[in-house]
Amino acid sequence: MASSDPLFLGLDSSTQSLKAMAIDAKLNVVYERIVNFDTDLPEFKTEGGAHHHDDGLTVTAPAMMWVAALDLLLEQMIGDGFEFGRVAAISGSGQQHGSVYLRNGAEEKLGKLQGGESLREQLKDAFSVGDSPIWMDSSTSTECANLEAAMGGAQAVAEATGSRAYERFTGNQIAKIAKLKSEAYEETERIALVSSFMASLLIGGYASIDASDGAGMNLMDLRTKEWVSAALDACAPGLGAKLGEVVPSHAVAGTVHQYYRDLCGLPTDCLVIAFSGDNPNSLAGLMLREAGDIAISLGTSDTVFGSLSDPTPSAAEGHIFGNPVDPDGYMAMICYKNGSLTREDVRDKFGGGTWESCAEAVARTPAGNNGMIGFYVKEPEITPTLMNTGVYRFDSDGNEISEFPVDADARAVLEGQFLSMRLHGAKVGLTPKSILATGGASRDASVIRIMADVLGVPVFTGDHPNSSSLGAAYRALHGWRCASEGKFVPYAEVVAAAPSAKAATQPDMAAHEVYTAMLPRYAELEQRLS
Ligand code: XUL
Repeated sequence: MASSDPLFLGLDSSTQSLKAMAIDAKLNVVYERIVNFDTDLPEFKTEGGAHHHDDGLTVTAPAMMWVAALDLLLEQMIGDGFEFGRVAAISGSGQQHGSVYLRNGAEEKLGKLQGGESLREQLKDAFSVGDSPIWMDSSTSTECANLEAAMGGAQAVAEATGSRAYERFTGNQIAKIAKLKSEAYEETERIALVSSFMASLLIGGYASIDASDGAGMNLMDLRTKEWVSAALDACAPGLGAKLGEVVPSHAVAGTVHQYYRDLCGLPTDCLVIAFSGDNPNSLAGLMLREAGDIAISLGTSDTVFGSLSDPTPSAAEGHIFGNPVDPDGYMAMICYKNGSLTREDVRDKFGGGTWESCAEAVARTPAGNNGMIGFYVKEPEITPTLMNTGVYRFDSDGNEISEFPVDADARAVLEGQFLSMRLHGAKVGLTPKSILATGGASRDASVIRIMADVLGVPVFTGDHPNSSSLGAAYRALHGWRCASEGKFVPYAEVVAAAPSAKAATQPDMAAHEVYTAMLPRYAELEQRLS
């Protein structure tokens, strides 16, 4: 390929890292790079990219760490000789729900970024609240109750915004900050999501929140994509003025600021396309098209999601967001807080310490684990709501026991999660005909085997487990095509040449029967705990 051919860059500011992935116009992945927050930026003292506070409920991350990560990533990319001059457009992904509080005057600082100094140095006074609440936070139950009371109940909030009030959703997080840090709130010029914040750094001004990530705030009307004034009023005074407007996910946020042209040679006309949430970007990266094409993402959080044309939000569980590649469409999702960090915990305490030893333990145990069921609640859980952390183990008669026989935990943590996905997914219309698995743990054959057997459908895996960064790169291309042609171009047309998922694991239907018989018992035990 001639070196003048355009590249499209996706940046993924996730819970634990900042990743870059570039594709060419034929959708080949040509470059990847990662900055890990804990190990590459140890001065921020994060664990898994976050600070877990003593109350066991509050979880934050330093906003400056995300800035420093961009400084470092760009430095590394320059060192790699990445061809910035070929980049036609950049889009991105952010962990959902996290909020960034920019102090009065911050927009001016962004506009005046200058060569010779890092972003970190130039933005050191830009935040009115330095510790951003993130999606792992579950400290806002009072604010959730207030929002639901003000709007006429949980179902009314779900009808309007796509989800009942959830602790991690941004509106409730803002409400807590406005109450506890009222001065800092007063001094806040703009509240961004992690996604729109990262886009703001690139354009040197405030980038708008997109309609897909915006749906994770409990503040946006799911259908009109406008802020709901009753929700704004219930959360914090003067909130509307601090949020800016909502834009479609394929909208152009601007062109890259001069700072990046000087620093790394990005072209003057390099577009920045609205950034979105990690799960919406994953949906774009996996190109889910038909009803029944469901994705399961196994990352810091585990999520189950798929596209929808007709939203029926429920207060019982699950979320409906705007669709990141179709302004008229929607996506449904359920989210688990106990994902990879919980599996790592089980690996280290009960699974022999390595993924290989866990896989061997799984191989030594039968489907259904002889009737034993475990709940591993390292963090307060979202689906279902389980605020009491701990490990809860039950024998085949439903008696709670303190230990499992050797090897059984390694299997139980996986079976429990996929039984839960089968149970709760079905309640929000996420009933799979086939599954696309993504995220780090999707590389592990023993994990995929249990997923296929519990859900009873083929599971496909691809070459790129980082579907959020891939989706961000695809969306950069999509936004660029829409902008170049001056009209909305259907996403399917833009990604028609993309390689589709490769290996499929077929379910073992005998094992599936075992799980079908187990499901009511699983549901009953879950009820007992919640
Ligand atoms: C989704 C959610 C998490 C975060 C981080 O609602 O809270 O999946 O997006 O991955």
